[in-house]
Amino acid sequence: MHLLETQVDALRSKEKDTDARRTYDQVFDHACLLVLQHLIGEDVFATLDYPVSTGKEAVVFHASGSDGAGKAVKIYRITNSTFKTISVYIEGDPRFKRVKKATKPTLFAWAQKEYLNLVRMQDAGVRVPTPARVEDNVLVMEYIGDDTMPAPLLRNATLQDPQAVFNDTLENLRAIRKAKLVHADLSEYNLLFWDGKVVVIDVGQSVPLDHPRAEEWFHRDIGNIAHFFHRLRVDVTPQSLEKAVLEG
Ligand SMILES: Nc1ncnc2c1ncn2[C@@H]1O[C@H](COP(=O)(O)OP(=O)(O)O)[C@@H](O)[C@H]1O
Ligand SMILES: [Mg+2]
Repeated sequence: MHLLETQVDALRSKEKDTDARRTYDQVFDHACLLVLQHLIGEDVFATLDYPVSTGKEAVVFHASGSDGAGKAVKIYRITNSTFKTISVYIEGDPRFKRVKKATKPTLFAWAQKEYLNLVRMQDAGVRVPTPARVEDNVLVMEYIGDDTMPAPLLRNATLQDPQAVFNDTLENLRAIRKAKLVHADLSEYNLLFWDGKVVVIDVGQSVPLDHPRAEEWFHRDIGNIAHFFHRLRVDVTPQSLEKAVLEG
C-alpha cells in the first residue's frame, strides 16, 4: 500500500489547480487504492504514471506493465451526475426509469459491462483496446498511443486519406453489428486514430440489439459517423452508411 500511496501523492501534488486535486481525492478513495494495489500485486500493471483524461464520469491514467507495455487504467468516478447518465442505459425501458442513487454496485456493474463489451467486440473483430482486467470500478486495458503521446481522437487527427479511414471505420461498424451490439455513443470523439487505423473506445454504454432503444441509438451512431466523414468530403449519407453496415 505504501508504494502506491506515494505514487498517488506524487500525482496529486503535481496538480496546482484545486479542482484537479479534488478530482484526485474523489477518485482515489481508500477502497480504490486497495483495488489498484491488488492489481499491481497481480501484475496487471506495475506503475500508475499520469492522467490522460479527466472526464465527468471517468478518469483515465497511463500505467506501465512490468514488461514496459503501456496500459490504460480507467477509473469510474463515484458522483451523482454519472448515475443520471448511466441509469438510462442500464435500465432497459426509459418509461420505468427511476433515478438511482449512486451506489457502488451500480458503478461496478458499469465497469464490468464495459469490460464485457470490449471482449465481445474484440471477439467479433472490432478494433478495440485489448481488455486486461476489471475490478470494482477500475478497468485496465491496452494503451493506444506511445510513451510520448496518447493516440489522438479521430476528431483531432490529421487524415491524409479520409476515404481509407472511412472504409476502416465501416469495417469496425460492421464488426460491432456482428457482435450484436450498438455502441450507443459513437462519434469522432470515441474513436482513436493510431497507426493509420481507428480504434473504438468508450463502450460502457453499448447495448445488445434487443435493447428497447437499440434502434434509436444505432441511427444516432450512424448519423454522427456519416456527418463526420461527409464534412471530410467522403461521399456518404446516413442512409448509404446504414445500408453499407447492414448489408456488409
Ligand atoms: N485505451 C486507451 N488508450 C489511450 N487513451 C485512452 C484509452 N482509453 C481512453 N483513452 C483516453 O481517455 C479519454 C476518455 O476515455 P473514454 O473511455 O472515452 O471515457 P469518457 O469519455 O467517458 O471520459 C479518451 O478520449 C482518450 O483520450
Ligand atoms: Mg469518451
